[in-house]
Amino acid sequence: MASVGVLGAGTWGIALARMLSKTGHDVTVWSAIAEEIDSLSATGKHPKLPHMVLPAQMRYTKELKEVCTGKDIVLFAVPSVFVRSTARAAKAFIPQGQIVADVAKGIESDTFMTMTQILADELGPGVRLVALSGPTHAEEVAVDLATTIVAASPDLEAAEYVQNVFSNENMRVYTNEDMHGVEICGALKNVMALAAGISSGLGQGDNAKAAIITRGLSEMVRLGSAMGCSRETFFGLAGLGDLVVTCTSEHSRNNRCGQLIGQGLTAEQAVKEVGMVVEGLNALPAAVALSEKYGVEMPIVEYVDALVKGKIESRDAVRLIMNRKKKDETD
Ligand SMILES: NC(=O)c1ccc[n+]([C@@H]2O[C@H](COP(=O)([O-])OP(=O)(O)OC[C@H]3O[C@@H](n4cnc5c(N)ncnc54)[C@H](O)[C@@H]3O)[C@@H](O)[C@H]2O)c1
Repeated sequence: MASVGVLGAGTWGIALARMLSKTGHDVTVWSAIAEEIDSLSATGKHPKLPHMVLPAQMRYTKELKEVCTGKDIVLFAVPSVFVRSTARAAKAFIPQGQIVADVAKGIESDTFMTMTQILADELGPGVRLVALSGPTHAEEVAVDLATTIVAASPDLEAAEYVQNVFSNENMRVYTNEDMHGVEICGALKNVMALAAGISSGLGQGDNAKAAIITRGLSEMVRLGSAMGCSRETFFGLAGLGDLVVTCTSEHSRNNRCGQLIGQGLTAEQAVKEVGMVVEGLNALPAAVALSEKYGVEMPIVEYVDALVKGKIESRDAVRLIMNRKKKDETD
C-alpha cells in the first residue's frame, strides 16, 4: 500500500483522496484554506459532494511539510492557477526523485507551460512527473461509478507506479508516454466545452454539439501535431474521451459556464454563478496564443475568445462560424 499526499481539497482532490483511502492507501489531504481542513476534519464531508462519505482513516493537514514528507506519491490537485504558487511553497519538502502526479488541467497564460512543466520549473528537474487525465467527473468517482484515466509520463516506471496505486475495481488506469499531448488535450477540451455550452445556451441542439466535438477535436489534433504531440493521444481517453464527457455532461462546469455566456451573461458573471474553477477560461489565452505561434487555424477557440472578450455578440457567433470560407473536411 502506498502513502499519498494530496495537495488541494476541491472536488477532484477530495474524490481521489477518498478513493485511494478506501482502497487501503495511506492518504493525507492538505488545503491552503484552513477552514476547509477544519470542516473536513469535523464533518467527514465535502460541501460540494454532499453524498460522499469520507473514510474515517483519512488525515487532513494545514502543513505542507506534513502532506509532502515521506510520501510515495505527492498529488497536485489544486486548480491550475495555484499550481505554481503551491509548488513553490512545497518545494522545500519535496526531494528530487519524488514521484509527483498532477491532475490540474490547464496551460499557464503567460508562459504557455503545462502543469508538469510548471512543476519541473518549480521543483527541479529531478522530480518524477506524471500527468493524470481523462474523462473523470469527481461527482461520479465520489460515488464509485466506473471511470477510466490515463497516467502519462515519459518515465514509464513512474507512470506504472501511479497506474498501480490508482487502479481499483471502479477505476481503470492506462499509461501513455506522451505526457505533453495528454496535458494539451486536458487544457484544450475545456475550451471546446465552453463552446458546446455556449451553443446550448444559444438554443442550438445536438447537431451543433456533435459538430463542436468533432471540429473541436480537429483543432486540438492540428495544434497538438504542430507541437510535436502524438496524434493517437488526441483520439484516446485524455483527448476524445474527455472532450465527449466535458461537452455533454451535466457535471461539466465549463459546459455550464458556456451555457450561461450563451444566455447573455458576461464571463465574469458566469464564473460567479458556477462557483467553482472554470479551467476553460483560464486556458483560453494560451490556446489563442499557441494557435498563433504555431500558425494553426482554430476557429472555435477564436470565436469563444472573441465572445468572452465581448468583441462579438453571442447571437452573432453562430452566423459567423457557419459562414466561414467553405473547405474540405479533411483539410
Ligand atoms: N472536478 C473534477 O471533476 C475534475 C476532474 C478532473 C480534473 N479536474 C481538475 O482538477 C483541478 C482542481 O479541480 P477541482 O474540481 O477540485 O476545483 P475546485 O474549484 O473544487 O477547487 C477549489 C480548491 O482549490 C484549493 N485552493 C483555493 N485557493 C487556493 C490557493 N490560493 N492555493 C492553493 N489551493 C487553493 C482549495 O482546496 C479549494 O477547495 C482543476 O484543474 C480541474 O480541471 C477536476
